[in-house]
Amino acid sequence: MIPTVRPRRLRATPAMRRLVAETRLHPAELILPVFVREGIEEPRPIQAMPGVMQHTLDSVRRTAAEAAEAGLGGIMLFGVPELRDARGSGADDPDGILNRAARAVAAEAGDALVVQTDLCLDEFTDHGHCGVLDAAGAVDNDATLERYCAMAVAQAEAGSALLGLSGMMDGQVAAVREALDASGHQGTAILAYAAKYASALYGPFREAVDSQLGSDPAVAGDRRGYQQDPANRREGRREARLDIHEGADIVMVKPAGTFLDVLADVAAESEVPVWAYQVSGEAAMIEAAAERGWIDRRAAIEESVLGIRRAGAGAVLSYFAIELAGWLR
Ligand code: PBG
Repeated sequence: MIPTVRPRRLRATPAMRRLVAETRLHPAELILPVFVREGIEEPRPIQAMPGVMQHTLDSVRRTAAEAAEAGLGGIMLFGVPELRDARGSGADDPDGILNRAARAVAAEAGDALVVQTDLCLDEFTDHGHCGVLDAAGAVDNDATLERYCAMAVAQAEAGSALLGLSGMMDGQVAAVREALDASGHQGTAILAYAAKYASALYGPFREAVDSQLGSDPAVAGDRRGYQQDPANRREGRREARLDIHEGADIVMVKPAGTFLDVLADVAAESEVPVWAYQVSGEAAMIEAAAERGWIDRRAAIEESVLGIRRAGAGAVLSYFAIELAGWLR
């Protein structure tokens, strides 16, 4: 048997492989998520996220400059406040840590990077949920929308160019768009975490933002009442379609690696850019296996981000963004 079709011809040399590659990584399509903590003097390491820090206002500014130097497309800011309360008051306070960080980073690198802010209450509430609670202790969708609108205006005023709506409340994109337009922020764009799943892979992030997640261990961390069921693929398409209809400028799928089918579906249908978030647990799995010598760290990082791009993501949020950009040079 002599094969007449030989796909291996196109795999024979590095030059040929490079020429026929369908997907390429570029620093401009990478976005670095960063954490800024209130009330600390020095950056603090995060146990479950090797190499990732809770930053001070000073160190986040330096990191933004590094990200710009590395040619990244953007930076996504998360705030870690000193004090939390039931309504997440620090979130829309112009002097709250996230808004102060946005101002600092926009001044430092706003011309070179798209400065983005997480728009969600979980980092600011003492119960750790992404919204405010009703009398029965359930997340109150419509009362939460009012809080998101106030946050949106504060973030836009602080200089955030792209608001990352990650709370998964119904109608959040339309509500925030209207609040921005009514306050003179027509130019501020919305990144909708359109298909965000209730994932086990957010574990290390909870440490990064010191999320308390309630005192009752039975409900601690349970976001299945608003984040999507990992069993559902069709629902991801629906959420993305709704968000685009409500005015999202960009939609996102999150986590990335365990939802590549959803990402491919959304990418096939969407007329706005589609991004994906390689979340903390995805990074942690690579780090832990690499630390034990079980996988090649650099190859695993490159392959995971390449896979996310190949599935349809235009840009990728990754904790490896600066390091990866360095390898791509
Ligand atoms: C919500 C938010 C979360 C992450 C990003 N935005 C936590 C959650 O929804 O539970 C997780 C990101 C990661 O794990 O890297 N503010």
